[in-house]
Amino acid sequence: MHDDPQPIGSENILNRFRAILAARGLADIEPGPTDSATNPNDPGHPEYHRRQRAQFALARWERATPYRYQHATATHPDVITWARRATADLRDAGFLVLTGSTGTGKTHEAYGALRHIASSGPTRFEFIATTAPDMYGRLRPSGSNNGMEHELRRLTTVPLLLLDDLGTEKLSEWTEEATYRLINERYNQCLPLIVTTNLPVRAQRDDRGLPAGPDLVARLGERLTSRLAEATTVITLTGPDRRRPPRSAA
Ligand SMILES: Nc1ncnc2c1ncn2[C@@H]1O[C@H](COP(=O)(O)OP(=O)(O)OP(=O)(O)O)[C@@H](O)[C@H]1O
Ligand SMILES: [Mg+2]
Repeated sequence: MHDDPQPIGSENILNRFRAILAARGLADIEPGPTDSATNPNDPGHPEYHRRQRAQFALARWERATPYRYQHATATHPDVITWARRATADLRDAGFLVLTGSTGTGKTHEAYGALRHIASSGPTRFEFIATTAPDMYGRLRPSGSNNGMEHELRRLTTVPLLLLDDLGTEKLSEWTEEATYRLINERYNQCLPLIVTTNLPVRAQRDDRGLPAGPDLVARLGERLTSRLAEATTVITLTGPDRRRPPRSAA
C-alpha cells in the first residue's frame, strides 16, 4: 500500500519551498501587489491587466489587418453598439451584416468593430478576416481533399470571423453548400460573424413576389435567411463613394 500523497500546500512542502528560496537569497522578497492594488498603473490592479490584454489584442489586430484599414475605427453608432455587445459576451453578439453601395465604408467599419473589441482588452482575441472569393478559393477541393474540412473547421471555430464582400463569388451548388455549412455552424455555436456585402438584404419584390434584383435573401436561401433573421444586426451604410473626391460645386 502507498501512503496518501501529501496535499500541495501542506506545511511540509511550503517549508521546503521556503528553504529553497532562502538558499537562493530570495526569502525576504515582498509579495507583489494583488488584486487589491489601488493604483491602476500597478501590476495586480485589474485595470493594469486589462490594458496589457488590450495592448496584446491590438497588436494582433494590426498584424491581421490590411494596411489600408490600419486606421479604421468604428464610427457608426450601431456598429459601436454591436461591438460593445460582442465585447461583453461574444455569444450574445449575433451576426453583423454591413450592406451598402461601393465605397460607403463597410470594410472600414468591419475592421473598426474588430479594433473596438481588441481595445477592450478581451481575455482571448482571435479573428480571421477574409474576402468571400478568397475563402471559397481556399475551401475549394484540390488533390487529396481534407483541405476543405480542415479550413471549414478553422472558419467555424475561430471566435471572430469577418467575411468581406459576400456576394461577389460565383454561385454554384458547391459554394451554396460551403456557405450553408459555415453560417449554420457559427449560428449553432452562437459565434459572431461580420459580413460585408454590396447586395441589399432584401430587394423590392414585384407583383409576383420576385425580387427586382439580386439580394442576400435570394443568394443565401430561405433556411440561412431564417437563421440570420433570428440574430443579425443589419446596418445599411449610405452616402457617396468615399474613394471618389467630392465634386466641386460648379
Ligand atoms: N469612416 C471613415 N473614415 C475615414 N476613411 C474611411 C471611412 N470609411 C471608409 N473610409 C475610406 O474610404 C475608402 C472606402 O471604404 P471601404 O473600403 O470601407 O468601402 P466599402 O464600402 O467596403 O467598399 P466596397 O463595397 O467597394 O468594398 C477606403 O479608403 C477607406 O479607408
Ligand atoms: Mg469593402
